[in-house]
Amino acid sequence: MCGRPTKERLAEGALPLPPLCRWVQRRDESARQNFPTFCATLNAANNGNWIGARGTRSGIGDRAMGIEVYQVRGDIMELVFDPREEDLRVGESLCVREKETGRGLIVQIMEFRTATYPSMTRELLRLALAGNEWAAEALRQQDLSPELLANGGASDGVNGLKVSEERNLKIAVAKIRRTLLSNGEWDQWDGWIPHRDVEVFPVPDDEMFQQCVELLGNPLELGYTLRGKPFRVEGRHLEKINIITGVKGSGKSYLAKVILLELIERGAPCLVFDINREYIHLPRHAVDPFTGKVLQRGIVPLKAGENLKMGLRQFGIQPFITLMTKYGLPEVSAVQLENRLYQLFAEADAIERKRGRPYFLSLDHLIELSEQGQLVPNEVVNNAIRTRLQAIKNTGIFASYPNEAVDFRREYQKIRDGGALVIDLSDLSYLARFGFVQALLEIIREICDEEILLGTNRFPFVFFEEAHLYISRNTISAIVTRSRHIGLTCFFITNMIGGLDESVLRQADNLWLLNVPFEDDVRHIAKSALTDEQTLLSYVKRLKRYHALALGNVTKGYPIIFRVKPLKGINTAGETKYFFQPTATLPELPLRSPETRPQTQSNGGDGSSQSRSLFGEFFDGGDG
Ligand SMILES: Nc1ncnc2c1ncn2[C@@H]1O[C@H](COP(=O)(O)OP(=O)(O)OP(=O)(O)O)[C@@H](O)[C@H]1O
Ligand SMILES: [Mg+2]
Repeated sequence: MCGRPTKERLAEGALPLPPLCRWVQRRDESARQNFPTFCATLNAANNGNWIGARGTRSGIGDRAMGIEVYQVRGDIMELVFDPREEDLRVGESLCVREKETGRGLIVQIMEFRTATYPSMTRELLRLALAGNEWAAEALRQQDLSPELLANGGASDGVNGLKVSEERNLKIAVAKIRRTLLSNGEWDQWDGWIPHRDVEVFPVPDDEMFQQCVELLGNPLELGYTLRGKPFRVEGRHLEKINIITGVKGSGKSYLAKVILLELIERGAPCLVFDINREYIHLPRHAVDPFTGKVLQRGIVPLKAGENLKMGLRQFGIQPFITLMTKYGLPEVSAVQLENRLYQLFAEADAIERKRGRPYFLSLDHLIELSEQGQLVPNEVVNNAIRTRLQAIKNTGIFASYPNEAVDFRREYQKIRDGGALVIDLSDLSYLARFGFVQALLEIIREICDEEILLGTNRFPFVFFEEAHLYISRNTISAIVTRSRHIGLTCFFITNMIGGLDESVLRQADNLWLLNVPFEDDVRHIAKSALTDEQTLLSYVKRLKRYHALALGNVTKGYPIIFRVKPLKGINTAGETKYFFQPTATLPELPLRSPETRPQTQSNGGDGSSQSRSLFGEFFDGGDG
């Protein structure tokens, strides 16, 4: 940047004015006599980090804006503008481009501050106090009044200049995101900053999309940008691990539904673990009963324990053991049962092969064996197992006869070319859910393995609403680690931000953030390392209703704020039951304020405290 100026150069006014001064000059010609020396010295005082920018008009791209660069500190650029002339928004991207070379920076607005002339004086004071002789000299040259010095520059005037005019100026604090190369491409920012002779342009949405949103022919339309342009992401970049989070009621499930419906539309097979019956009213999958032709892609609702029951063999040994331990079967007994089940399953396989038709193994069969003392050798263990088997039978998730069992794989085939199986877990007890979901996850894994084997690669997209309520931490970690290898894509939708494991956050390919007003939650999310904490604090703490921040592979790591698409004509409502019915039209309620933060959010735990309070009649089932 500009070198340290000599006193002679300062006296000659060799350095151009910093932009704020020129703003002031434009507004008050009477200030002309007072500013040059002050500003030039100020420029030097800041070690040359002041960049002058002329807001000239340009024929290139969009119009050059009436914005001046105030200063650059680290990766933060401060821009001065008149809000009456420029309508800037938090999250908006700007291009600060050198006139000469066409090289520049892409910056994104993080927040706004009010600019006043005395604020510059305060900056001088700060520097002077820190021992900067140039700042001290600048202050001496200004001949500041004792009152001004006493209150740190908050006076009504400096050097006879009225501040009231400048109070209308604003400073946009922007983060430097990318370097703009002379050929128009964006590159990772390497610390370079432009000369003082720059112009500021808005970055058109199309340009931002071209640079940050790579569309490979599978666009999913999720909403609109701040300027109202459709916001589309590439299906391929959505794959693998996604986290949708935000405070309660911020629109997480709504965004998940938007993504789900777009995926369905593009022919993706999807599964939703629906804990609150929120997805069951989405448009149904419709098939012509005569031709088998799909008339409309949509959802197939399956209710666990009702029209979704499984046989023991379909359920699988490991999920069954998980279920038994959730119901309190001690580990030693579980090992004995596991061994016996392997034996029984092998016998069933043999019978099946011999008969040449499926052999159905039911829960009643196990109960019978335990009653006869033939399940495991030890009678006490037999009894312990029997009581659990009876409790599990009551959940209704096991079929008693072959026709009662739903072939999950056959259901999956219905939606393999576009559609969603919505698995309603709402009626299952807290404990039963764990084993049931694990059994389904095993089947999903097998489906993925087969897709790989066949080379067809139609891998499912699985939506987990509040996964901590039915999947153990270990299982979540296993899913996250293995999904890349088996082709699975997951969406974890939760408001228990503190409960999101760091390992899961770090493996996230995309973050979808809605309003998160609590600073410690934001800090936790920042561990994903998809962007810096400062960016998250600036954006998600203040996200407007129905707006989301997308970050990750879908945006090449560039934070993009968008308004989630409204799903017109689609019933997105869950089935929350109310006692009181509204009799008057009420104004919309604001989102929950930080002051009313629930205790469970800050426990830093896994959400189990909430689970325990909600399901207090159950014991802590451990992390099986
Ligand atoms: N983009 C949107 N457009 C229109 N309405 C929306 C939008 N997003 C959310 N809503 C509405 O706001 C309300 C809350 O949304 P939603 O249920 O998705 O929030 P949530 O974050 O999932 O809440 P919870 O934490 O309770 O699960 C719903 O009535 C929903 O219909
Ligand atoms: Mg929700």
